[in-house]
Amino acid sequence: MKKKTINSLYIHIPFCSSICSYCAFYKILDKITTENAYIDQLIEDIEKTKNNFNPFKTIYIGGGTPSSLSVENLNKILFALNTLIDKDCEFTIEANPESITEEKLILFRKYGINRISIGLESFDSKYLKLMNRDYKINYFNLIKTIKKHFDNINVDLIYGLPNETEDDLNDEIANFLKLDVPHISLYSLEIHKGTSLYIKGYKEENGDTLRNQYDLILSKLRNNGYERYEVSNFAKHGYESQHNLNYWHDNEYLSLGVGGSGYINNIRYKINPPINDYLLGKRNIVKETVTISDNKEYYLLTNLRLKDGFSLKEYEKKFNSSILFDKKIEIEQYINVGLLKIEDNRLKVTDNGMYILDSILVDLI
Ligand SMILES: C[S@@+](CC[C@H](N)C(=O)[O-])C[C@H]1O[C@@H](n2cnc3c(N)ncnc32)[C@H](O)[C@@H]1O
Ligand code: SF4
Repeated sequence: MKKKTINSLYIHIPFCSSICSYCAFYKILDKITTENAYIDQLIEDIEKTKNNFNPFKTIYIGGGTPSSLSVENLNKILFALNTLIDKDCEFTIEANPESITEEKLILFRKYGINRISIGLESFDSKYLKLMNRDYKINYFNLIKTIKKHFDNINVDLIYGLPNETEDDLNDEIANFLKLDVPHISLYSLEIHKGTSLYIKGYKEENGDTLRNQYDLILSKLRNNGYERYEVSNFAKHGYESQHNLNYWHDNEYLSLGVGGSGYINNIRYKINPPINDYLLGKRNIVKETVTISDNKEYYLLTNLRLKDGFSLKEYEKKFNSSILFDKKIEIEQYINVGLLKIEDNRLKVTDNGMYILDSILVDLI
């Protein structure tokens, strides 16, 4: 059988060594017996993938906390992935500060990982405590150690924290800038049902506060050489995440592991818990076949998040219709008030439009 070629592979590792007070991702507390059995199952899936797919241009091991796996299990899974790495592949692993060791960094490099994404979130110990992430780790030393092995580094920053003042945020940004890493992902604090923050009654900040905080971060990052290439992602030139760009371009990607989701052959799918089913060899795959109108919707939802928007020609080729014709009135109105623009035959959201991206999307889909 001919092997399929797609750009991206995502692998979900659903283990963490402690649970953060805000996190609603699919994850469970580390237990070495579960972890060993999970990695064995994952390796079976990786072996099957080798029969059906050519090597990938981007691979992303996310979670949960992949860096919390034991050295032995990291060795096993990275060894298994070896032949799925295409030439010049962007190969990312997610890590959190407490589980990074130099031994693991060396191992990552040995197996071709060339990008590391770390959840730092904040430098402020009152917020780190609130998040249950007060690891007592000096982030400057941590990044210094990582830089010995990696230049392509992302750090996550959470803003919109409870009662966060302008001074708090100024200090936070100054510290993140001092790290001098080429990529920063921004997250505004979301309080999801069932999380410890939700149970304690914390609420998300209101829209005006979030907008002011976002503005402050945007201007400081731009002044320091970072480009906002996606609503919440900032990179120095040449360090944009190729894996995430593949999602935002609405291209296909394969996903392995419990809690992940993928998009192949016009089918979007999720691999659902419980993990015990997975450990017994059962894959709870829930599939959703995508109609043309769903496809158009996903295409806009993802591509318009990008600074470069999308090519009108590509849209026409893909959907056999012109969005300028289908949504003529809406697009003209948004262009007239400076929220959308057409440049180089691409439809793009302007800086001002990015603030109300959700409303623009509602009108276009
Ligand atoms: C799934 S985590 C993976 C990284 C790693 N497990 C860690 O926490 O260091 C990816 C990022 O999502 C963000 N995140 C998760 N839940 C969030 C929430 N409720 N509100 C805002 N950001 C959140 C955090 O910035 C986190 O670093
Ligand atoms: S934020 Fe990261 S470390 Fe914290 S519980 Fe979620 S996945 Fe685990």
